[in-house]
Amino acid sequence: MKEFKRTLITTALPYANGPVHIGHLAGVYVPADIYARYLRLKGEEVLLIGGSDEHGVPITIKAKKEGVTPQDIVDRYHGIIKDSFEGLGISFDVYGRTTSETHRKTASDFFRRLYEKGEFIEKTSMQLYDEKAGQFLADRYVTGTCPHCGNENAYGDQCEACGTSLNATDLINPKSAITGNAPVLKETSHWYLPLDKWQKPLEKWILEEHKEWKSNVYGQCKSWLDMGLQPRAVSRDLDWGIPVPVEGADGKVLYVWFDAPIGYISNTIDLVGDDYTKWWKDPETRMLHFIGKDNIVFHCIVFPAMLMADGSYNLPDNVPANEFLNLEDDKISTSRNWAVWLHEYLADFPGKQDVLRYVLTANAPETKDNNFTWKDFQARNNSELVAILGNFVNRAMVLDHKYFEGKVPACGELQAIDEEAIREIKESVARLSENFDNFKFREALKEAMNIARTGNKYLADTEPWKLWKTEPERVKTILNIALQICANLAITFEPFTPFMSADLCKMLGLEKISWDMAGRFDLLSEGTVISEPHLLFEKIEDAPIEAQIQKLLDTKKANEAASWKPEPVKETCSYEDFDKVDIRVGKVLECSKVKKSKKLLQFLIEDGMEKRTILSGIALSYEDPSVLVGKEICFIANFEPRKMMGIESQGMILSAVNSDGNLVVVGPTGPVAPGACVG
Ligand code: MF3
Ligand code: ZN
Repeated sequence: MKEFKRTLITTALPYANGPVHIGHLAGVYVPADIYARYLRLKGEEVLLIGGSDEHGVPITIKAKKEGVTPQDIVDRYHGIIKDSFEGLGISFDVYGRTTSETHRKTASDFFRRLYEKGEFIEKTSMQLYDEKAGQFLADRYVTGTCPHCGNENAYGDQCEACGTSLNATDLINPKSAITGNAPVLKETSHWYLPLDKWQKPLEKWILEEHKEWKSNVYGQCKSWLDMGLQPRAVSRDLDWGIPVPVEGADGKVLYVWFDAPIGYISNTIDLVGDDYTKWWKDPETRMLHFIGKDNIVFHCIVFPAMLMADGSYNLPDNVPANEFLNLEDDKISTSRNWAVWLHEYLADFPGKQDVLRYVLTANAPETKDNNFTWKDFQARNNSELVAILGNFVNRAMVLDHKYFEGKVPACGELQAIDEEAIREIKESVARLSENFDNFKFREALKEAMNIARTGNKYLADTEPWKLWKTEPERVKTILNIALQICANLAITFEPFTPFMSADLCKMLGLEKISWDMAGRFDLLSEGTVISEPHLLFEKIEDAPIEAQIQKLLDTKKANEAASWKPEPVKETCSYEDFDKVDIRVGKVLECSKVKKSKKLLQFLIEDGMEKRTILSGIALSYEDPSVLVGKEICFIANFEPRKMMGIESQGMILSAVNSDGNLVVVGPTGPVAPGACVG
């Protein structure tokens, strides 16, 4: 493997059109932060670069909807996103924005350099145009049917159903997202980056020289390359973005996917000024892009082609892209509000940043899509962080306070059981490093947790509380080792749960930690004072978890109500046909659930002549059926009698379906005598 002097880590710049959610975190920011922290612990020179992506059509669409400017939108969300990342302890060295002056200049210069080198081709083509809005429709400004899978809601840049990336003109039956009108074709000219020119160098670089990339990333690149690369437009007819910096480009801006990755460079410049060349151009710098799987083509093909066209930049050494995280078995969606938003989590669970970081890493979608559930969140906190990690540290410290007034006792001669525990922990640390180096953070976290497991087992096996009276010297050794294990936990967990680690270091009096200390058992010298212990993690009760689940159920209901449409009207029916149905008003005398049936309610109805029993399949909609007693309702009196659950039903109760699928019994709006005909 090539040796590098320093590492530049970039994280996909989130669009500033909404807050960030757990899907972004699990896929990109938590793993990138873990890796950056690990490298810093190893004493390596590293930068973690982040920032907001503030151009692009979704932002202008949102602004239009709210009647504000795109700048208002990005100012709002950039603030929320930046603060929430900080709240979670994502240790960015810089968090910039693509509306900054540095970025405008950097991106313009980049474009101009390529333009002057003749790296673009200028092409005139027919593009979709909304005559009513007086505007060309690119990317998300147009929706229509995907030519590949038939999804009717595909966007002009991508079909989210099948993942295919599209041109707006590929869509069948395109529709403007601004006016809803069908667009016309109109001529316009744009600059294109001829990706076909870079096909061969990209093939060599990825397919031959980077076989070690994750198989999901390598596979996607290979399929793009196998299809043959085509020129890609790098400008758009829009009024939000960085103006194309050449003559005769009025009304044209850089395509958001052209300027955004250059944001990594601009943000580095904002941080270190002219020194940025060391991070971007020195071949001894390693560059890594942390992204989600929907960004693979841009980071492995398009941006590298831009960098190759420039010729003076490094290419990424690895792009450890992740798959997607689902929420409660459903795809996370900003537009459907199906997400756990980071800023809301931080407000709802103050002081529990590490719990989220832990759960998202334990469930990281590293090799396949994965699922987040609130029950799993609670279980992992209670049975892993509290019961294994927190419990071990607490036991060791409490025992030390009980026997040695909180001082680290001396370590005597080691017995086989001690050596066994030490060996196991050293092995865990070795495996941890290996997993970190291969971007396998889930596995790494498991190994870190194994150290706490080993600690618990060690205390359970050695039972120092039973030896205190007879072998106090032996107890000293055991507790010395137990406390050294605590110190190992403070180090190995730092990349995952930095808040806990800082807390634990403070309790242990560990001032500076580094990765080469991990696996050592001389970290706390004899006599070191351990402060009064407190719990590292607390149990999460059912109530806050149920509140989160309820919040999601409410979202689901609201979405269903918003998407509810009345059934289409049935085919025409003659008066004679209608007149066959004898609908009447009845009064409910009794109403109760039918035993052993989930769905059936049994009604006793006063129908004006006699009493009749009617069964109705609406029990799920009435938790307490007695609320219907005394009500006047409508029923079909001449409905053919039917037997269900051994009971004969003599009619049918009329009810209407709600937007949430619940049934509501229908009745007259004023007083009507039982037996009255409805018609
Ligand atoms: N804003 C894009 C997204 O959320 C990611 C941009 S990454 C960058 O999908 F490289 F372009 F910055
Ligand atoms: Zn599709």
